[in-house]
Amino acid sequence: MARTARSSNRYCGGSHSLEQRPARCATDEAIPPKKMKNESMTSPNPTLTASPAWNALQSHHAEIRDTHLRSLFQEDGDRGQRMTAEALGIYLDYSKNRITDQTLQLLLQLAEQSGLRERIDAMFRGDKINATEQRAVLHVALRAAKGESIVVDGEDVVPEVHAVLDKMAAFCHRVRSGQWKGHTGKSIRTIVNIGIGGSDLGPVMAYEALRHYSQRDLQFRFVSNIDGTDLAEALQDLDPSETLFIVASKTFTTQETLTNAHSARQWCLERLGDEAAIAKHFVAVSTNAEQVAAFGIDTANMFGFWDWVGGRYSFDSAIGLSLMLSIGPDQFRQMLAGMHAMDTHFKTAPFEQNLPVLLAFLGIWYNNFFDAQSVAILPYDHYLGKLTAYLQQLDMESNGKQVDLEGNQVDYQTGPIIWGAPGTNGQHAFYQLIHQGTKMIPCDFIGFCETLNPLGNHHDLLMANFFAQTEALAMGKTEAEVRADGVDDHQVPHRIFEGNHPTNTILIDRLTPESFGKLIAMYEHKVFVQGALWNINSFDQWGVELGKVLAKKIVPELDSDDSQPLQHDSSTNTLIKRYRSGKN
Ligand code: F6P
Repeated sequence: MARTARSSNRYCGGSHSLEQRPARCATDEAIPPKKMKNESMTSPNPTLTASPAWNALQSHHAEIRDTHLRSLFQEDGDRGQRMTAEALGIYLDYSKNRITDQTLQLLLQLAEQSGLRERIDAMFRGDKINATEQRAVLHVALRAAKGESIVVDGEDVVPEVHAVLDKMAAFCHRVRSGQWKGHTGKSIRTIVNIGIGGSDLGPVMAYEALRHYSQRDLQFRFVSNIDGTDLAEALQDLDPSETLFIVASKTFTTQETLTNAHSARQWCLERLGDEAAIAKHFVAVSTNAEQVAAFGIDTANMFGFWDWVGGRYSFDSAIGLSLMLSIGPDQFRQMLAGMHAMDTHFKTAPFEQNLPVLLAFLGIWYNNFFDAQSVAILPYDHYLGKLTAYLQQLDMESNGKQVDLEGNQVDYQTGPIIWGAPGTNGQHAFYQLIHQGTKMIPCDFIGFCETLNPLGNHHDLLMANFFAQTEALAMGKTEAEVRADGVDDHQVPHRIFEGNHPTNTILIDRLTPESFGKLIAMYEHKVFVQGALWNINSFDQWGVELGKVLAKKIVPELDSDDSQPLQHDSSTNTLIKRYRSGKN
């Protein structure tokens, strides 16, 4: 059924696959119903959903939505070889998706219609595509090679990028070699990164991903939560004279980070007993030199970056100082080279062979035409244990938007919920729902041919599970197959696997700084493409502001008595009073 911008069920889609027969449209909650619409928003812009490419995709969806992957594979013996793309050592098998060649053709038309090529060029050129903040979006400049030129406001930013990298490298050499001495003359043994959001998730994810390549006599801790437990536990067994704190905050105004940094500073002062110790034990990474100085960190010990680097796109800037300390400048640069190679691939490869573009297309197909609500990211590598949490911020903070670039409320779904956990652990936790639940959950399976830790046949067992899961999800198990196993009648329905669950398989030879860089940049650009096709601003994050403002208002109220009447809703007022009477 055709969905038009003004149809009454426009948020639900006209059709639901077997996986999705909700009692009512699940997306009613995601997008406010008309009567609750913020009056300052303009009405839905039907341009995208009324466009020829969109309509063609809807008609095509109606034709193939019930086609089973089993049939698609039976009809085309070559599908598993043909529906693949390989670039820079990343092999993408997208054959286990509910698509035909025509699906991709139609998605290509959507990209053409949306001016995707021009949008990519605009980002790489340094245009201020983050319109609400009037900023360029240039994380690609962070990995541009020396000698390249990217101009922002009349200035080539590439030399500055390399100057900061050189400063970071010199500092890392001193710390890693033991030349950087703490206040009492001891070398640094522990690095504590204090940051939150992009100033934490990126560094900690990348540190864990590349731990195999780390300098093992240094230990690393990452503190993000304003819950004092995070800092207290991180500092529990540390010797301040051997500890270096990196205060990582783009703005240097974030409540959590500054509160943790002040407490860490206090902890240090109480034990080392001298203000002069701060210079030896605290460095900062920020765009805000004034606030860094106000905190008491010498700006000589500050590593800068720029407003054109979004927080969630920043671990390859100075925000990755902890990572560089761990793996060293050379391997950090290898990671940057991997990211740069993916940037070039993204910028130049034809869309039908372009890894980020293909992944974005497939995501849009399920998100907007099958009404899938989420995407599971399932890395089969223990080092990638924090990848999903990192991609959660990357994707959900970027594309969790309800208005388009012109400020019109969208009448189509935007960013999906990102979730997941490493295999095989997830298999014993939530895969049941993916296999036999009622929801469609497209999955990305990420695996490596070689292990970094050969141990008996562990890696073959891991990868056997990896391949088995995508096969089971796609092909399922029919009633006839269940009966052929001699299963009792009453158990048969419980043992049937419907299958037809879509997956991408991403296979890479080996996890190295370079291949890791390619993988991350691939996902960055996937998010970009989806935002471009949805015509939203993927680079602001106003949605996190309201909670911050309200929290600031509540802070003094938690400490005051009943003499000042509370001005919130009755639930919040009562909760605050209950907390006041219960707290120690
Ligand atoms: O949560 C909002 C946010 O602004 C993120 O985008 C960002 O990564 C995080 O806070 C931390 O910000 P900062 O690096 O400025 O402390």
